[in-house]
Amino acid sequence: MSGRLHDEEFIAGLAAAHGTPLYVYDLGAVRRNLEHFHAFDSVRYAVKANSNLGVLRTLREGGARCEVVSAGEIARARAAGFEPGEVVYTADLMDHRARESVRDLRLHVNAGSATMLEQVASLCGPGDVTLRINPGFGEGHDEKVTTGGAHSKHGIWHEELPSVRAQAQELGLRVTGLHVHIGSGLEGHLVERTVESMGDAVALFAETVTRVSCGGGMSYPYRTTDEPFDMGRFASLWLAGRDRWSEVVGRRVELEAEPGRLLVANAGMLVTEVCGMKSTGAGGATFVLVDAGFHSMIRPLLYGAFHRITALGAGDRPTSPKMVAGPLCESADVFTQGKAGVPVPQPLPDMEPGELLAIHDVGAYGAAMASCYNSRPLPAEVVIHPDGEAALARPAIDPNQFLEREREMLR
Ligand code: LLP
Repeated sequence: MSGRLHDEEFIAGLAAAHGTPLYVYDLGAVRRNLEHFHAFDSVRYAVKANSNLGVLRTLREGGARCEVVSAGEIARARAAGFEPGEVVYTADLMDHRARESVRDLRLHVNAGSATMLEQVASLCGPGDVTLRINPGFGEGHDEKVTTGGAHSKHGIWHEELPSVRAQAQELGLRVTGLHVHIGSGLEGHLVERTVESMGDAVALFAETVTRVSCGGGMSYPYRTTDEPFDMGRFASLWLAGRDRWSEVVGRRVELEAEPGRLLVANAGMLVTEVCGMKSTGAGGATFVLVDAGFHSMIRPLLYGAFHRITALGAGDRPTSPKMVAGPLCESADVFTQGKAGVPVPQPLPDMEPGELLAIHDVGAYGAAMASCYNSRPLPAEVVIHPDGEAALARPAIDPNQFLEREREMLR
């Protein structure tokens, strides 16, 4: 968290002006986060982490390219000013809408399967392509976000690379890029192994490769006690690989990083209004009930992910361990839960209805994964520009806006 996200009065003013639940993004922080990646030859932002136009524009202006995974993300990237040549489409297969956009814009594709290569060739004809490789192992903050290994649906299995090489040649595709992303929330134990396995791939595609992407996945310290990601070590291992490979292939290989989380996690806050409190008796729990739920931010429910929660304007009122729960008609609608739903209460003061809580570090995979479950709106999003000015960047989106049309369609 940084800048004006610290200013509780200012944040309370935004909540009063725009309603809650409300996402607030500090674009200055997004811009500063690019600094983490200065050692790499290029940075490609994974749009899925946060596709707010203000965020996308900020990263484009900071010099990043982008990676997209749907026709919707292509449209958002274009609206933020990314040129087609700055966009890479990653997929194991493409749906009809994506195929149209990729064909019309002639986007570079990062192919995660042999089928994808056929699709690319038939859509765009001969041209350049990147291969996403599953090196046979993976890592992540949760099993659900581990994207390498025999049980992952992602990427081309490393042992299939020789046959995929032959297939690409037959289809007239030049493999100019090699990409690996073994999971999200990496601690860095497998960097050496990953670099080594990319070295094998580079040797196989030595004639054509010009770019290697080490993917994203760098972890973010959500707890104040978490160690920050060791970018120095990560970058130096990959850069050493790049230098070796450049010698082997006889041309300069570009090393690209493809982060999502680390560029945006700390830049986002979810502001939610307290509706009341309740307790479950001796030995039980005390709940603060709020107007945000897992339809607004699903990471705790889905992964047991921790997000720090603080009371706005509560000063040094005494705190006690409390659970924070949302309004959905589902008992899993709790922000203070670990893996398998174990309660992980946080220290909070007693709260009155109308007071505000801030859920921190939700800039990555917060709004991006929100839903309209229980027919509730997607939260509005406010951006704080680097000069400190705040602006509504997207209003709340009410699924009931189509209610009249739905009624007509049923007639
Ligand atoms: N590149 C590819 C091909 C990816 O699939 C992803 C994330 C990234 C880059 C960026 O990874 P990051 O740097 O953000 O870890 N919803 C989950 C995370 C899912 C990540 C999906 N792919 C969460 O909330 O933790």
